[in-house]
Amino acid sequence: MASSSDSTIMTSKVVSPASEDKAIRIERANEYPHEVWFFLACLIALVAVFRLLSFVCSKMFTRNSLSSQDSEKGASHSKAVVNIRNLPLALINLYRVVAFRFTLDFGSYSLNLAEVVLTMMYMAALFTWTFINTTNVSGGKFDVSYWSNRAGVLIASQIPLITALGTRNNIISFITGVSYENLNFLHRMAARVVFVLVWAHAGAKIAPGLEATDLKEAWLRCGILAAASLTSLCIISLRPVRARAYEFFFYTHLVLVLLVLVGAYRHTENFSPLVFSYQTYIWPSFIIWGIDRIIRVIRLVAFNHTYFGFDSGAGKALDATTELLTPKCVRLTLKRPPHFKWSPGQVAYLITPGVSSLPFESHPFTIASYDSHMSLKEITSSAASTDSDSNTTPTVSYWKELVFLINVQEGFTKRLADIAARKGSVKVYLDGPYGATHNLNTYDTNVFIAGGTGVSHTLPLLLDTIEGVRSGKSICKRVTFIWCIRDPRNITWISSVLAQALSITPDSLKVAVRIYVTGSSISNSPDVPALGYESPEATPSISSVEVDSSHTPVFEKAQETLPIKNQDNVLVDNPMSLSAFVNLPSVTMRQGRPSLTNLLKEEAEETRGGSMCVAVCGSRSIASAVRKGLQFPVSGPLTVLRGGANVSLHVESFGYA
Ligand SMILES: Cc1cc2nc3c(=O)[nH]c(=O)nc-3n(C[C@H](O)[C@H](O)[C@H](O)COP(=O)(O)OP(=O)(O)OC[C@H]3O[C@@H](n4cnc5c(N)ncnc54)[C@H](O)[C@@H]3O)c2cc1C
Ligand SMILES: NC(=O)c1ccc[n+]([C@@H]2O[C@H](COP(=O)([O-])OP(=O)(O)OC[C@H]3O[C@@H](n4cnc5c(N)ncnc54)[C@H](OP(=O)(O)O)[C@@H]3O)[C@@H](O)[C@H]2O)c1
Repeated sequence: MASSSDSTIMTSKVVSPASEDKAIRIERANEYPHEVWFFLACLIALVAVFRLLSFVCSKMFTRNSLSSQDSEKGASHSKAVVNIRNLPLALINLYRVVAFRFTLDFGSYSLNLAEVVLTMMYMAALFTWTFINTTNVSGGKFDVSYWSNRAGVLIASQIPLITALGTRNNIISFITGVSYENLNFLHRMAARVVFVLVWAHAGAKIAPGLEATDLKEAWLRCGILAAASLTSLCIISLRPVRARAYEFFFYTHLVLVLLVLVGAYRHTENFSPLVFSYQTYIWPSFIIWGIDRIIRVIRLVAFNHTYFGFDSGAGKALDATTELLTPKCVRLTLKRPPHFKWSPGQVAYLITPGVSSLPFESHPFTIASYDSHMSLKEITSSAASTDSDSNTTPTVSYWKELVFLINVQEGFTKRLADIAARKGSVKVYLDGPYGATHNLNTYDTNVFIAGGTGVSHTLPLLLDTIEGVRSGKSICKRVTFIWCIRDPRNITWISSVLAQALSITPDSLKVAVRIYVTGSSISNSPDVPALGYESPEATPSISSVEVDSSHTPVFEKAQETLPIKNQDNVLVDNPMSLSAFVNLPSVTMRQGRPSLTNLLKEEAEETRGGSMCVAVCGSRSIASAVRKGLQFPVSGPLTVLRGGANVSLHVESFGYA
């Protein structure tokens, strides 16, 4: 809240200390935001370079190391000699472990070290540039007139950054390759740091006392409006609010952001230094926001144009079908719109006016299917597809159409489940795809780990790997697909597609599917006798029993007894299909949670001398268990120097807010 007279540099030859102070203040208030931006631009460039270097080195050195280590295969890490040529790879692994796999937990918040360091650096940068060089010409230190207005200018300068970090289509994501969901953390973090600065700026003005007449000034009232709106924004963006009342958060956020921007624009209008108007920091946010919306609208129209056409028949054919697979899971299958392409693990927002209760409501879901280049004949020309049990249409749709596995919650998803119970169809507009893409073709081993509906992320990665090996693009030799579920009935979500995928897997690729059923109370469910699930009494230890799929009592009985529809009117896969699936040699089932640390250690040892990619999607708990499993010594520098696996980790875990 600089006074308007601050903007005029005195030109008198005899310069008083007060006017000298003013000239210095203005010069620094103009200059420092540019320096902050230079610093941030370097940081963004550094992240981009790091990611690129990590990718390139990983590819180069893994190949080198693979050839040099082949002869050492079978030797244990502790005995293997240190190979100095692996040093770059060891350093990259050290950086990955330290930056991304160690976390600091504060209540329900969990930040990895990279996020902590970025937050600290951002905070340090803004506060340093606010409070340095605040000694006035008379020697008074921390002169409030030096830093309070400068804080205001620095706040304004950060608004475009915060806006960009919060949009789905943004340039920072494009440059750094960091997905917009991950940048969303930085969006909130930057807004919270700026919030503190806003109160430093406002507090410096309020502390000496505001006159009632001051409030008659429109620019001041607008500043207060912007500060109050930002404060409310920071409160409603806290996780408990977002988790409990997402729609409330969403609409309030929209209104409050508008108030912040309009308030800040009018507030800064009052200050026009000779060379630069501070409003120049505010209006780009409208453009950044507008570009994001325009891209979204263009995509919406491009991918859903048949809905907007005159041929109502064609539009209807695009309606999504819904099935209630289990009481807590809806499968939504949508004919792939022309030109819609996606990569494994990407997300699409579903806009479903017939199901939503509010306008502009859109919900993100991971695309559980794979954008395959194989022909229908190639996908189905396998032994599995000739079985009488194969349910060809839903299975093939996992390679050709858009499939979503939707966990039933309380709002939109519950209404969708009601429609799915009637096998209804719904009109869906697609916005997407969003999210980072992963190239898994260059890893020797891929390990995919999912909890519950997190399998929507790992299933397309598995299909991608199989197709990559079939087409000769992927060097992968081993895939381990780990899936933790509470209810054994959940296997029916993907059993057919997994069976089909295994049947077209080339011999050169070894695939192991390991399913862990963790629900202990499930035996009391009315459906369980039909599944033949053993009662806890019959099961010695619920946490450790391993079930060999070829003699699976749980599922043998299911062959004869599993109904097509159970008493909840829930659709279940054909019983033959389920039993055929659990009897496949590549499939094992266990009860209880897996020890992810041991599993990952074993996988890394098997991949010795090669590269291993681990992708995990599920709750925060499962993601954090995988992070822990891939710290030291599994992915430590010494292990890599001795020829251990070069391990990359991708984590997708958004919880529900
Ligand atoms: C990137 C991403 C990918 C996801 N992929 C899947 C998936 O493949 N399968 C799946 O079942 N779920 C997925 N989810 C979660 C899914 O978006 C929410 O469960 C769904 O939007 C809840 O809708 P609801 O109205 O029934 O929720 P409510 O019962 O109202 O709330 C349940 C939870 O969902 C959150 N939520 C509600 N609306 C939204 C929204 N529009 N955007 C984000 N969160 C919301 C709430 O904060 C709350 O924590 C994903 C979420 C994200 C962020
Ligand atoms: N793209 C995405 O980011 C995306 C997509 C889909 C889903 N998701 C997320 O995935 C989660 C899935 O929720 P859900 O309700 O479908 O599944 P769920 O019912 O919560 O089941 C999760 C399974 O994982 C197991 N598990 C949890 N922590 C574990 C650990 N540390 N080690 C081993 N196993 C563990 C659970 O075992 P217990 O029974 O012992 O707890 C349970 O069997 C949600 O948080 C959702 O937001 C994210």
